[in-house]
Amino acid sequence: MEDLPGLRYRAPVPEPSSLTAVRDSYDTVAAAYAERVPKPSELDPIPRGMLAAFAETVRRSGLGPVADLGCGPGQVAPHLADLGLPVFGVDLSAGMVGLARRAYPHLRFVQSSMTALGVGDGVLGGILAWYSTHHTPPAELPLLFAEFHRTLAPGGHLLWGCHVGDEHRRPTQGYGHPVSYEWHLLPVERVAELLGQAGLMVVARLVQEPEGRLTRPHACLVARKA
Ligand SMILES: C[S@@+](CC[C@H](N)C(=O)[O-])C[C@H]1O[C@@H](n2cnc3c(N)ncnc32)[C@H](O)[C@@H]1O
Repeated sequence: MEDLPGLRYRAPVPEPSSLTAVRDSYDTVAAAYAERVPKPSELDPIPRGMLAAFAETVRRSGLGPVADLGCGPGQVAPHLADLGLPVFGVDLSAGMVGLARRAYPHLRFVQSSMTALGVGDGVLGGILAWYSTHHTPPAELPLLFAEFHRTLAPGGHLLWGCHVGDEHRRPTQGYGHPVSYEWHLLPVERVAELLGQAGLMVVARLVQEPEGRLTRPHACLVARKA
């Protein structure tokens, strides 16, 4: 990441073993995921509107680059780039990063864990965590959100989006392939509380009720580092 303006390379911290299942599973499902998951242009207007509001908020702040953390095959990063953000993607899965690089060669995608980003303190103008924190065990979310806080610039914004609820699963199949990851859905109030405890103040929240192809409630939180 050393060639991105404002980013300072730091030696990566060794990966915790709990991430292995997530990385291996997404390596396995990467191609199927990329085929099945809708691109931002195919999303319904409500989550697309949140992405647009986030992009405008970050653009106005005039702060540093934006990291799309857990970017998967990279569909959302070019959407943010089209909205005027200097964005790069980060994903644990080499399979996902490979797909993203091939599909969007004009953007930068890095294989790394969002729990230990190889960037300096306070260099990011924005963080997008879009359907990517639910594989992190709830007990480890404080450390993850502390990393978001460390890397965001003062006044920088986070857009977090995911399904919400009170559900913990260990599926054996995902996107038609064997997987070994777990996922954890938390009530939106709990996510907001954990962000607040990490120093990321929630300034807006949206909950979308299940309807159509949305089988569970979905929430977006916009948080700002003081
Ligand atoms: C459900 S996919 C979402 C991908 C993308 N954000 C999207 O909306 O299409 C979750 C992604 O998060 C990534 N991920 C999960 N935990 C991660 C971590 N600790 N660091 C980096 N990426 C992670 C997975 O590898 C996977 O690609």
